[in-house]
Amino acid sequence: MGKLHAIITGIGGYVPDYVLTNDELSQMVDTNDEWIMTRIGVKERRVLKEEGLGSGYLAKKAVRQLLDKTDVDPDTIEGVICATCSPDYHFPSNASEVVEEMHFSKAFAYDLEAACCGFIYAMDTASCMIESGRYKRLIVVGAEKTTSFVDYTDRSTCPIFGDGAGAVLVEATEEDLGWQDSILRTDGSGFQYLHLPAGGCVHPATHETIDAKMHFIHQEGRTVFKYAVTNMSNLTAEIAQRNGLNKDNLDWIIPHQANVRIIQAVANTLEMPMDKVLVNIQHYGNTSAASLPLALWDFEKKLRKGDKIILTAFGAGFVFGSAYLKWAYDGAEK
Ligand code: UT7
Repeated sequence: MGKLHAIITGIGGYVPDYVLTNDELSQMVDTNDEWIMTRIGVKERRVLKEEGLGSGYLAKKAVRQLLDKTDVDPDTIEGVICATCSPDYHFPSNASEVVEEMHFSKAFAYDLEAACCGFIYAMDTASCMIESGRYKRLIVVGAEKTTSFVDYTDRSTCPIFGDGAGAVLVEATEEDLGWQDSILRTDGSGFQYLHLPAGGCVHPATHETIDAKMHFIHQEGRTVFKYAVTNMSNLTAEIAQRNGLNKDNLDWIIPHQANVRIIQAVANTLEMPMDKVLVNIQHYGNTSAASLPLALWDFEKKLRKGDKIILTAFGAGFVFGSAYLKWAYDGAEK
């Protein structure tokens, strides 16, 4: 048997119906469309408003669409990895909810937390499982209800984030396609610049943590911005260099959708023209671990078998990573 590769063979996605526009945000905090578009590049974002629903619901919607599109037999799914930093509960996992709802009778399930880099980390894990020969068919989901910890009185963070989910089917092939290479890194010194102060076991919810607004994202935007540009650009350059990729033979860069200026800086590293960089931040904002699968979902029709793609992301931790993927099917035919 030849070397096994992990290929993505289908994509499902879901975003909530509610569209929070820059105009509506401008009535909530002192901001405006021009500032948000120039500094971040977000026009609107989706918000899951319904009481009692969370990222697990979004994950299930995305996986349901994935099953419908691919017509895969649920009994052949061997595992679900859900990347999320906004899980429904500390336990059990969102992935358990997916397995229950979809009646996957032979699947393991767990969540993986690597913040905005979660999808790359989860894909890398799933790919290693497939390449080992132990598993043949897995589902990787990125699902977030980031708006559950956004402070809508803080103008420096509330325009950025949105909710959504994307799910991919990952299968084995002997063809030279799929997940080719990855570089994953973590710099724990980033904690102070980007974290959710309370709600974990160090600061469980109390009246005091609520009064002190500790259940909202703490982000020092300028510092995070600099780290994101440097690390996403460096890892993109490194993975390109070691795989012989450049602006002429690379088909797409798909960056984490956190800020259009970060995306442009990453593209500049390889002198990639922006029409080869997939950007949907204007519609969804930063959906953390859902951002890369939602970009694949939105642009699936553009992707062709054999297309060479670099994925790159950066998030709280700090965690960052880049991956090189050879696309496995003609998206237009799905
Ligand atoms: O995915 C996880 C990783 N997270 C990120 O990648 C986020 C990285 N950081 C960023 O995207 C940007 O730093 C922000 C979008 C968060 C902020 O943009 P910035 O260009 O770095 O702005 P700044 O924080 O340096 O603030 C510039 C000015 C300030 O006013 P002064 O002090 O110059 O008078 C802010 O008060 O812009 C002001 N400002 C706003 N003005 C209008 C901050 N937020 C707003 C706003 N509307 N929403």
